[in-house]
Amino acid sequence: MALRNVVKIGEDTLRKKTKIVEKFDKNLWQLLDDMADTMYKNAGMGLAAPQVGILKKIVVMEVNGAFFEMINPEIISQSTETNEDEEGCLSVPNRHGIVARPNQVTVKFQDRFGYDMTITGEHLFARCVCHEVDHLNGILFVDKIIKETK
Ligand code: NI
Repeated sequence: MALRNVVKIGEDTLRKKTKIVEKFDKNLWQLLDDMADTMYKNAGMGLAAPQVGILKKIVVMEVNGAFFEMINPEIISQSTETNEDEEGCLSVPNRHGIVARPNQVTVKFQDRFGYDMTITGEHLFARCVCHEVDHLNGILFVDKIIKETK
């Protein structure tokens, strides 16, 4: 395991689309382990591969003590009801703001071995999934801020 550098806002990498992961091999597992290390070291709740300079559909997150690895995540349904709460991002230091997100999402993805998984989650989980999946499409939370908080 090793730490990776976190790409910061202003760099092109964060604005690019990502590619689907097709190989579930040791290179992927190394990257996942490094991403988890990097997320925890920087006290983040989630990290998407473009944030470490890799343009692939890979996300790690920890919500309410549960750790998730999501390969090729896709939000397949979301509630129309939304809530507004504060977000930050390891790629956007010293900026926080209120963003509206769906109350509930269902996300389909693969685990590190390529097995299909589907999870439905609410509130913080839903917010985190939306934030991280946005990263895979070149979207940052600052694009969606309703109000800056600090
Ligand atoms: Ni982020």
